[in-house]
Amino acid sequence: MSSSHLLKLNNGESIPAIGLGTWQSKPNEVARAVEVALKTGYRHIDCAWAYGNEKEVGEGLRASGVPRSEVFITSKLWGTYHRRVEECLDDTLAKLGTDYLDLYLIHWPVPMNPSGNHPVFPKRPDGTRDRDESWDIRDTWKGMEEVLKKGKVKSIGISNCSEMMVEKILTTANVIPAVNQLELHLYNPQHKLVTYLKSKGILPEAYSPLGSTNSPLLHDEVAAEIAKRHELKTSDVLLGYLLRKDIVVLTKSVNPARIEGNLIGALEAYNRLTTEDMAILDDVAANGKQKRFSMPPWGVDLGFENWG
Ligand SMILES: NC(=O)c1ccc[n+]([C@@H]2O[C@H](COP(=O)([O-])OP(=O)(O)OC[C@H]3O[C@@H](n4cnc5c(N)ncnc54)[C@H](OP(=O)(O)O)[C@@H]3O)[C@@H](O)[C@H]2O)c1
Repeated sequence: MSSSHLLKLNNGESIPAIGLGTWQSKPNEVARAVEVALKTGYRHIDCAWAYGNEKEVGEGLRASGVPRSEVFITSKLWGTYHRRVEECLDDTLAKLGTDYLDLYLIHWPVPMNPSGNHPVFPKRPDGTRDRDESWDIRDTWKGMEEVLKKGKVKSIGISNCSEMMVEKILTTANVIPAVNQLELHLYNPQHKLVTYLKSKGILPEAYSPLGSTNSPLLHDEVAAEIAKRHELKTSDVLLGYLLRKDIVVLTKSVNPARIEGNLIGALEAYNRLTTEDMAILDDVAANGKQKRFSMPPWGVDLGFENWG
């Protein structure tokens, strides 16, 4: 595998297997992070309207000197915009300074009140999230299909969707989602869901592959032992493990050395991990370490295993 390794989407488009994440990257750090990433060989940046830093991501893209056409850019529709897909997309395009996206995702399958008391996280008087209960996620998908038809995005997909939610979307979908971006890592491998997605031709993408901020995964003894044996870092093994399963890996850093190290290390781990290593890593979660790090209090059952 090389830094330009591509995976195929169900519509014939290709996606670089490793992308730079931008969640929690502060606006004053993210432009430099994106610039460094592109200069060191990344060709895929994962963004979202809700991250509040897309303008600075765009600055980093331009500062890198890498042509737009060589970079795969993903962004995501936020919950308060499910009734207004094109409006959210246009705002993202303007902020990034581009006229198309390579991939556009529904960030969470949870429509939220578009005229509530907050533009990002509207809440009800009792403090719970103000969901837009009269809106059906399948109509959001229709909006996604429309922006695809208009050519504003090359591919469309979903994020944070369980098998139950995918099945619901598929009942009326004309376009099969190209990807489902999920929390996937050593402690939350979701083997059943990954197998299901592959059977439907939907490519899984791993978010929080290192376990996100202050992650215990970086100190996992099983991964650390495998890393030591192959003269790699534990973080390399965590990333390479997912790549070997043909899962797109989205990893965030704003530290130049870690940005470059993650790309090189993930590819090394991809090449060095053995079938036995993979079997051991596959069992870590089931052997008492199952854990999710991202469980926003949406107040609705999304149909995931091991939630809460
Ligand atoms: N669809 C969704 O709902 C969703 C949810 C969460 C995330 N995502 C996407 O997935 C991306 C990745 O997930 P994530 O940001 O949660 O977590 P992550 O990539 O698993 O971990 C990022 C954390 O690890 C640190 N780090 C990075 N490389 C490291 C290394 N080699 N050694 C030690 N620490 C390291 C980073 O700090 P430094 O920056 O200081 O290096 C940061 O604190 C996000 O940025 C976002 O684009 C999507």
